[in-house]
Parts: sequence; structure tokens; C-alpha cells
Amino acid sequence: MDPVLSTQDSASITEDILASQKGKVFIATGGSSGIGFELSKMSYAAGAKVYILSRTQSNVESAIKQIEEAHKTTPKDRLCSLNFILLDLADLECESRLDVLYCNARLAAVPGGRKTQKGLRLHLGVNCVAHVLLETLLFSVLTATAKTSPKDSVRVVWAASILVELGSPIVSSSPSPIHKCV
Ligand SMILES: NC(=O)c1ccc[n+]([C@@H]2O[C@H](COP(=O)([O-])OP(=O)(O)OC[C@H]3O[C@@H](n4cnc5c(N)ncnc54)[C@H](OP(=O)(O)O)[C@@H]3O)[C@@H](O)[C@H]2O)c1
Repeated sequence: MDPVLSTQDSASITEDILASQKGKVFIATGGSSGIGFELSKMSYAAGAKVYILSRTQSNVESAIKQIEEAHKTTPKDRLCSLNFILLDLADLECESRLDVLYCNARLAAVPGGRKTQKGLRLHLGVNCVAHVLLETLLFSVLTATAKTSPKDSVRVVWAASILVELGSPIVSSSPSPIHKCV
């Protein structure tokens, strides 16, 4: 079976074996639902201080309630905090470190023609350009954190989708492994 789509592949890190993240600060964009929600939940359970960055206050409040409810019997000294910030980067100035930025928020299958405030196509603007800008703005705090942290522990994680590959034009005579599978 092609390695790209193999169902044999499994995650090498799961919530069962995740080491303590105590003392670390994480940001998950789009952390109120789906994968971002699960990442926030895992990171919080491992003791990290987690910020869920989102545009919709009510969704994040409900997500935080669910996560806290799921951990109501976990000893308090094993947990740190779950926090909400609008996509207003001024709010981040209170943090002097940032260990992990999950670039996770996305839009999918939005009808063509919709644009961001700056006139970019909506998918490109939200899923890609906004996260590049966010990462650029947070680069100095990430770099400063990396200087005093164990090697490779500070990182920016981008969620990607196989649909990017499936929807891309085939430009060479040898299609990618994913195209060969479908
Ligand atoms: N689910 C899958 O099967 C799958 C497969 C491959 C890759 N992925 C990738 O994994 C990531 C997460 O996917 P998911 O299915 O878990 O996502 P999801 O459940 O659709 O959640 C998307 C999140 O993005 C937020 N968001 C959307 N537009 C935003 C904007 N303009 N500003 C701020 N936040 C915004 C949403 O916030 P609101 O609460 O405000 O709506 C929501 O919390 C995506 O990058 C996706 O491409 C997912």
C-alpha cells in the first residue's frame, strides 16, 4: 500500500504517552472545535497553559467549559489554565514565552468569490496568509523561548489537508503518490 495513505500509520504521540508540558505556553488557532479542540484538550491535560485563539467568543467559552468539565477530577496541581483571546495580538503581550503555536483554524468549501477584508480569496487569506502573519508577529517570542528551552521543544505546527494535494493541478508526468492512490 502507498505509504502516504496507509491505514497502518498511527500517531507516535498520543494523550496516553504525552510527557508533562508544565511551564509551557501553547496557542491553538481555531481551538474551539475539531482538531484544534482536541489539541487544546491534550495540551491542557498535560499541564500547559493553553490559549485558544478564535473569532467566536461563545464557541470558545463552550469549548473551555467542556475541557474543564472533562478534567474536573484531575488534581489541580497537574493542570495550568485554559484561556481565550480574540485574534487581537495585543493580548499576547502579557506572555514572555511561547512554546507551541498550532496553526489550525481553517475554512473549507466556502463558495467562490468571497474575500477577506484585504481582498484575498477567503480560503487563502484565512488558512494561509493570516497564519503566516501571526507566526511572523510571534516569531520573536518563539525565538526567545527557544533560547532557554530544550532543543526542538519550541515549535510551530501547521495543520494541512490532503485536499490541497488532491485539488492541485498535476504538473509533471509522474503524479504525486497521493494522486496515484485515487
Ligand atoms: N477534519 C479533518 O478531517 C481534516 C483533515 C485534514 C486536515 N485538516 C486540517 O486540520 C485543521 C482543523 O480542521 P477541523 O476539521 O478540526 O476544523 P473545524 O472543526 O472546521 O474548525 C475550524 C476552526 O477554525 C476557526 N476559524 C475559521 N475561520 C476563522 C477565522 N476567520 N478566524 C479565526 N478562526 C477561524 C473556527 O472558529 P469558529 O468557532 O469561529 O467557527 C473553528 O474553531 C484545518 O487546518 C484542516 O485543514 C482537517
